[in-house]
Amino acid sequence: MIGGRFITFEGIDGSGKSTQLRALAARLRERGGTVVATREPGGAPGAEEIRRLLVEGAPGRWSPETEILLFTAARRDHLERVIRPALDRGETVLCDRFVDSTRAYQGIARADLRATVDALHDLMIGREADLTLILDLDPARAVARERARGGTEDRFERFGTAFQVRLRAAYLALAEEFPARCRVVPADGEAEAVAARIAEIVA
Ligand code: TYD
Repeated sequence: MIGGRFITFEGIDGSGKSTQLRALAARLRERGGTVVATREPGGAPGAEEIRRLLVEGAPGRWSPETEILLFTAARRDHLERVIRPALDRGETVLCDRFVDSTRAYQGIARADLRATVDALHDLMIGREADLTLILDLDPARAVARERARGGTEDRFERFGTAFQVRLRAAYLALAEEFPARCRVVPADGEAEAVAARIAEIVA
């Protein structure tokens, strides 16, 4: 059993993070762990309100700079109200996306703003995950999966496949930049096989 660990799930849209997060949460709970499963943007009532501003509407609704501020505001609320208290209680926190999403989406794929993302992160968040699982999948397959899912939270999917290709490269670059914390998990196999690989890494 592990306590007080902060594990984040990252990847392009449609990479299967949410399914894998649920599977790991169930596995750790079966083994007696206390697990908080949460997500970004959102994860706390105020942060969920900010989420709606970010994931709905036209792609050009916000500039990359404004997005960085909104995602960081949502993250700060989530950190204060959910993540930090749970870690302080010794619980395991599994989070669907965290600052690597802002680094990849706003800092690399949408614009060249990595330095801005990192400066604001240091100032307002100041916490990295203990382990980051980067689910890696061919963007064409991921886009098809997302289309099949439908829904209204598609603002980022509407940036198109070329955007997802840039994102994938951004995530692989982040994995190289932070080798102690990040593990790339091939995510094109059966969900059970991906879950088994993740369980191995976490163990
Ligand atoms: P999410 O709900 O994880 O979408 P999905 O299930 O499709 O992966 O995240 C919503 C969108 O917000 C997603 O397209 C990624 C984007 N996003 C950013 O651009 N920057 C961020 O910092 C975060 C947390 C998410």
